[in-house]
Amino acid sequence: MTGGDIFRAEHLTVRRRGVAVLDDVSLRLPAGRTLALIGESGAGKSTLAYAAMGLLRPPEVSLEGGIRIGDTEIVGASERTLQPLRGARMGMIFQDASAALNPCFTVLTHLAEPLRRHRGLGRAACRERAIELLASVGIAEPASRLSAYPHELSGGMQQRVMIAIALACEPRLLIADEPTSALDVTIQAQIMVLVLERVRALGASAIFVLHDLALATQVADRVAVMYAGQIVEEGPARAVMNAPKHPYTRGLRASAIEFGARRLAPIAGVVPALSAMPPGCRFAPRCASASARCRAERPPPTVDGDARVACWHP
Ligand SMILES: Nc1ncnc2c1ncn2[C@@H]1O[C@H](COP(=O)(O)OP(=O)(O)O)[C@@H](O)[C@H]1O
Ligand code: SF4
Ligand SMILES: [Mg+2]
Repeated sequence: MTGGDIFRAEHLTVRRRGVAVLDDVSLRLPAGRTLALIGESGAGKSTLAYAAMGLLRPPEVSLEGGIRIGDTEIVGASERTLQPLRGARMGMIFQDASAALNPCFTVLTHLAEPLRRHRGLGRAACRERAIELLASVGIAEPASRLSAYPHELSGGMQQRVMIAIALACEPRLLIADEPTSALDVTIQAQIMVLVLERVRALGASAIFVLHDLALATQVADRVAVMYAGQIVEEGPARAVMNAPKHPYTRGLRASAIEFGARRLAPIAGVVPALSAMPPGCRFAPRCASASARCRAERPPPTVDGDARVACWHP
């Protein structure tokens, strides 16, 4: 494995119709650790998650740079290389289980597919393992749920099923894209705790896409803050939360603090259109500390210990 990393993006640029939705992203995750990607909607978090699963391909997108999962290069890899990886070495939980599950397939069919494909299990073994998996994600009377169709389950139950599918073959890496944002607030925490418990039980690594810095600090060892397709700050979760260096991260933290029922004002302004990005720092139009240099030159990432920040005036 590359220096013990389960995931490594190197100068990854992803373009859709010529526009860079990810711009020169480099990021690594050592095996056994958890990473949270955070940032406003449109920052490129899901694009990075899909790229890691090898789900982005020409001609819809063009990719430059690399992504390695363990020792396997994903960019440009054939389906023959990717198929055994997906589901077996890496699993993905999507934001909306009702959209990710096939409405025409039962819970058993969903769970059996990866078990048959990657583990070569027969019918009886698939059924037995499917029951164990449902029990492991907290589904009561699992045997009686096997014949259910997705629409017969609550949103929380569907999300539990998707977690069971993603973890069916005990992947080394789990990628969870806003795994609870489609759920009722009351069960969001339960599901998040469940995902973490299962990841820890398997000794796996995880990348969580979240939009909440406080939650990121609770679930992840490291945090990468994304803005307009770039990583602007990355480091140990607590350090980023307690002493954010990038003005955007500071804004995210401030807007996450609640006073009674009232949230502090979110960061002023909006993310520029990807097709009309400013030439220097992409955050400059919204940044109170912006200087002439910020508007003219892109700030390179500056490494400080095991953290880095891309800002001329951190
Ligand atoms: N299928 C798509 N077609 C065209 N543009 C897309 C598509 N998916 C994402 N984008 C664009 O790529 C950018 C990054 O999106 P995304 O990765 O979904 O961000 P996030 O997950 O951080 O909200 C956004 O500007 C979005 O509009
Ligand atoms: S480089 Fe300049 S504009 Fe960009 S975040 Fe830092 S201070 Fe603000
Ligand atoms: Mg997203």
